[in-house]
Amino acid sequence: MLDGKEPGLHVLQKGEGRCQILKDILILGIETSCDETSAAVVKNGREVLSNVISSQVSVHQKYGGVVPEIASRKHVELILPVINQSLEEAGVDIRRIDAVGVTYGPGLVGALLVGLSAAKALAFALDKPLVGVHHIEGHIAANYLDHRDLVPPFLCLVVSGGHTHIVCVKDYDQFEIMGQTRDDAAGEAFDKVARALGLGYPGGPLIDKAAASGNGSAIDFPRVYFDDGSLDFSFSGLKTAVLNYLNGMEQKGLKCPVEDVSASFQQAVVEVLVNNTLKAAGLKNLNKIALAGGVAANSALRNLMKIRAKESGFSFYYPGIVLCTDNAAMIACAAYYELMRGNRSELWLNAVPGLKLGEK
Ligand code: KG4
Ligand code: ZN
Repeated sequence: MLDGKEPGLHVLQKGEGRCQILKDILILGIETSCDETSAAVVKNGREVLSNVISSQVSVHQKYGGVVPEIASRKHVELILPVINQSLEEAGVDIRRIDAVGVTYGPGLVGALLVGLSAAKALAFALDKPLVGVHHIEGHIAANYLDHRDLVPPFLCLVVSGGHTHIVCVKDYDQFEIMGQTRDDAAGEAFDKVARALGLGYPGGPLIDKAAASGNGSAIDFPRVYFDDGSLDFSFSGLKTAVLNYLNGMEQKGLKCPVEDVSASFQQAVVEVLVNNTLKAAGLKNLNKIALAGGVAANSALRNLMKIRAKESGFSFYYPGIVLCTDNAAMIACAAYYELMRGNRSELWLNAVPGLKLGEK
């Protein structure tokens, strides 16, 4: 926990021993795991000095999803201008950076390699530590940037285009996965259903918007809970149920009620996410719940979690919209805590597309 009493003097109070830092620590964060090229400068792990995000959404939109080869090429074009802009906006000379934090997995291998190569080159040239960060750890850390009072332990629901994890955050660098998807990630389900509804890409925000004028109880889509006590998720059956519903409407020559389908699908996803997360918090006796990842931007998820957390007497945290989707500030924040724990990476660090949370 940052002490913050004396400017420039910060004390880490959790973890192995106490560690005093006598100057501000500036981390340059780099994120290129999917289709956002991002670089950020974060001070003392909690203060965002800059967070430049160059989204490739418009490039991939016409293909209905991210094309890995195009993503890698775009990252190559953008990485240096984005890093330069992040330093310029932060008003920080590159030689003043204390460490370079970078996502090294999971993600698209070609995309990851671009950010990682830039980070390694900078760390080598500047003779500063390199800190490899797990992308999910970054998403979780986004909460620290918007909630300075938040410290572990807490429970975090990480929901993005590639991941759906219930994570017990035991400490800044210690995680226990309590449940995860057995098939589609929540964001993936949003994107696939949006495509079937002809809404476009990325689907999550478009379904969220369409659902605002629909009825979430109009269609009774399935909610999957495993009866072995597992907190895992499954969304592929729900996706198929939506597709079957849409086919049925088409065969009958009926117009698809896009708003009601969006709202009912969203309601089914959100209910399962919230119920399993609250159950996990109860099992761990934790009274703090956080959301992370792109789907954490979903208004229905935020609303239902807020209501249910309040009923249970839990504190509830979620990052602002910009920090929910992929960005480098969250990576710099996670890198700061790894660095404070003495965790650094070697310059031969490689991209690990299937990296598991907790693996080093
Ligand atoms: O975290 P993120 O930027 O990238 C990954 O690490 O995957 O998440 C992107 C995902 C996409 O599937 C997108 O459709 C979803 O987050 N998303 C949303 C919303 N905003 C973004 N899903 C539901 N509701 C939203 N408002
Ligand atoms: Zn992400």
